[in-house]
Amino acid sequence: MEPRLTIHGRKFKLLIPNAEIESAIDALADQINRDFEGATEEDAPILLCTLNGAMIFMGELLKRINFPVIVKAAKLSSYEGTHSTGVVKSETVLKDIEGRSVIVVEDIVDTGNTIEVMERMLFSLGAADVRICTLLLKPDVYKKSTVLDYVAMRIPNKFIVGFGLDYDELGRNSKDIYVLDE
Ligand code: IMP
Ligand code: MG
Repeated sequence: MEPRLTIHGRKFKLLIPNAEIESAIDALADQINRDFEGATEEDAPILLCTLNGAMIFMGELLKRINFPVIVKAAKLSSYEGTHSTGVVKSETVLKDIEGRSVIVVEDIVDTGNTIEVMERMLFSLGAADVRICTLLLKPDVYKKSTVLDYVAMRIPNKFIVGFGLDYDELGRNSKDIYVLDE
């Protein structure tokens, strides 16, 4: 039988097994390592984890990064339940961004509201360069002009959970990615 999950009474079915996620992260890390080859301790880029969804992706990515890197985390939120509210709220004060290259590590880019706000915020804090790195992209929804430098996987416009992503705070601990099945 196909693996299934029930969260808050809603049914989900398997979409992307863990092995597939991990090999997509391998390929993405190779690309980032190539682009940042030669980075020194003095100009170490910041890997900025967007909480809470990107936690697992961040950990997996970080293990594969082979240049000096500074780790930070920030919390921006726009989702309530299974839909974006469209209003992005910042819940973190970020420090020591000035003059640094920043790689924003996102779980998923949907409308792009979150990364757009994040990018603007980082430039206003004096970031020298901002790159966006996301585990997942919903290309049918994304209509912003912010360049997505690193995208591990593209998925249809469906609500998903697992590998850090939640449905009303549950489901983050699934190692596979599941999609709403209704
Ligand atoms: P955006 O601002 O519309 O691009 O949405 C980005 C944020 O919404 C992500 O960082 C996720 O936290 C959340 N999100 C978007 N799509 C999903 C989904 O399918 N499942 C769970 N969370 C999602
Ligand atoms: Mg998120």
